[in-house]
Amino acid sequence: MCGIVAYIGHRQAYPVILKGLKRLEYRGYDSAGIALIQDGEPGQNPHLAVYKRKGKVADLEEFLAGKNLNSHVGIGHTRWATHGEPSDRNAHPHLSGSGRLAIVHNGIIENYAALKQELLNKGHVFASDTDTEVLIHFIEDIQQHNQCELEEAVRIALRRVVGAYVIVILDADHPDTLIAARKGTPLVIGVGRGEHFLASDPSPIIEYTKEVVFVNDYEVAIVKADELILKNLGNERQTPFIQKLDLELAAIEKGGFDHFMLKEIFEQPDTIFDSLRGRLDEQRGMITMRGVEEYMQKFIDAQRIIMVACGTSWHAALTAEYMFEELCRIPVEVEYASEFRYRNPVIHPGNMVMAISQSGETADTLVAIEEAKKAGAIIFGICNVVGSSIARASHAGAYTHAGPEIGVASTKAFTAQLAVLCMIALKVGYEKGTLSRERFLHVLHELALVPEKVKEILQQHENIKAIAEKYASARDFLYLGRGYNFPVALEGALKLKEISYIHAEGYPAAEMKHGPIALVDEQLPVLFVATRDRFHEKIVSNIQEIKARRGRVIAVITEGDEVVPHMADDVIAVPAADEMVAPILNVIPLQLLAYYIGVARGYDVDKPRNLAKSVTVE
Ligand code: F6R
Repeated sequence: MCGIVAYIGHRQAYPVILKGLKRLEYRGYDSAGIALIQDGEPGQNPHLAVYKRKGKVADLEEFLAGKNLNSHVGIGHTRWATHGEPSDRNAHPHLSGSGRLAIVHNGIIENYAALKQELLNKGHVFASDTDTEVLIHFIEDIQQHNQCELEEAVRIALRRVVGAYVIVILDADHPDTLIAARKGTPLVIGVGRGEHFLASDPSPIIEYTKEVVFVNDYEVAIVKADELILKNLGNERQTPFIQKLDLELAAIEKGGFDHFMLKEIFEQPDTIFDSLRGRLDEQRGMITMRGVEEYMQKFIDAQRIIMVACGTSWHAALTAEYMFEELCRIPVEVEYASEFRYRNPVIHPGNMVMAISQSGETADTLVAIEEAKKAGAIIFGICNVVGSSIARASHAGAYTHAGPEIGVASTKAFTAQLAVLCMIALKVGYEKGTLSRERFLHVLHELALVPEKVKEILQQHENIKAIAEKYASARDFLYLGRGYNFPVALEGALKLKEISYIHAEGYPAAEMKHGPIALVDEQLPVLFVATRDRFHEKIVSNIQEIKARRGRVIAVITEGDEVVPHMADDVIAVPAADEMVAPILNVIPLQLLAYYIGVARGYDVDKPRNLAKSVTVE
């Protein structure tokens, strides 16, 4: 949801910022822009130059090709529009009234309309429709009125601002300093020798340094080439906590695949293994998860668990509801974070709230857990991004260890979430005594086998591609599943919608007869997640109901199933597995199907229209 990169130091700023924006483009790609303080020709003063364009970072790059961009300090932005349509004029950076300050911003200034009115009354004129331009005018207005330093004006302004932001400001009069601040959306500062890098996540930074500082909410950073000062909004110095990143450059590059999404789908045998590694010990028949152990008694005593998440992570939560209820006999409520936060939910002190998020930065989820925390809940976070806001706002938690997920459509993060949630449910159920040793060991064993089985499924990619090409021109799709496979159906439908723009709905297979069956005709492909489990006979009947209405059936089945292939038009077979771990396997063909359909329709699957990877606005 908008990506920010800034640089100050001895290198040329433009190439560093441009490369960084390309790495952050998954966060938004409506428009892109850069502001630099350019070293003047001999005898001329340095000057502030802004270049921005509607479109992708590559469009900006093309526009700037051949220009003299000599500079050692600059800020850049790739945008996902919130206020104001994608256009050149709404692209960042934005300038203050005098043209002396340039700003890039990620987030939303909720009270921007009131601030704008205030400024309009004072005679300010705006060149864009954005909340960001209002903010930089407001900051400059404060600075002029109070005759103070820029950092002081920023602090005063941010005390009045309602909303979420990361901002970085470039001041033409002080080319040796960048001013940055954060509340609610992420900002990382890379600490190099005589240089600093600022970005929305570490991916633009790790090529240059692994030493980083995660800026906290309500902190203002005053960044020079060789100095980093952090202050809170009350002007008190904060000690920057420098962490060493455990991230390799290869992990954020495409590695020979056509798209990040495909690379990430194919990484899943390794990423699932990484989620299990050091935790699941089959030989000793145990699971080690420190975060869970610390809060074990709270889990055991929980009268209910509330799970909050959005999108794909919400589907992981829904699968976990089945796991926790079955293994731990704890009632689980699965909530859309955005609804939960505004619904005045009943939360009692000590209630257990699990927040699930790949990015750890989703604003809806973050705010939901903050509300729950205020009511005294214990927050258990399940995040992929280490050090992310949700991870830090949680009392305890478990990382999914899937590595950086760049493809906008989530794939490997989902399967890692399922693996981690399954381990937690197993561990709690076993400690609580609601789960026999025998069942515990059986599911443990089944989980351990998942990475190898995923490899087998991936070998079928050519078959899945052929099926995808056959159905690529469909207008609608229905995805059906029962029990543990119902959330898988939802996830399959979401993946297809996101990257192929085909309307798709997921339903519990038995619900079909209560309405959606009216849609079925010979045009409608219906995908059944029909692997062998306790519902198998029932889902076979549902398939027959579709075939009786001449629907086209694609079925994900268990290897060796001799019934469904006679009914379905196309089948994808996956290895047999316990029904609790089956979703981790069954979703893989659906990810591939969506991917190949998106590609067959000619879309850029890594940058689906209107979407952004990390949704840091409400
Ligand atoms: C779908 C997708 C989104 C995210 C959702 C939550 O492919 O990626 O639906 O799952 O925006 O994001 P996180 O998990 O980062 O909180």
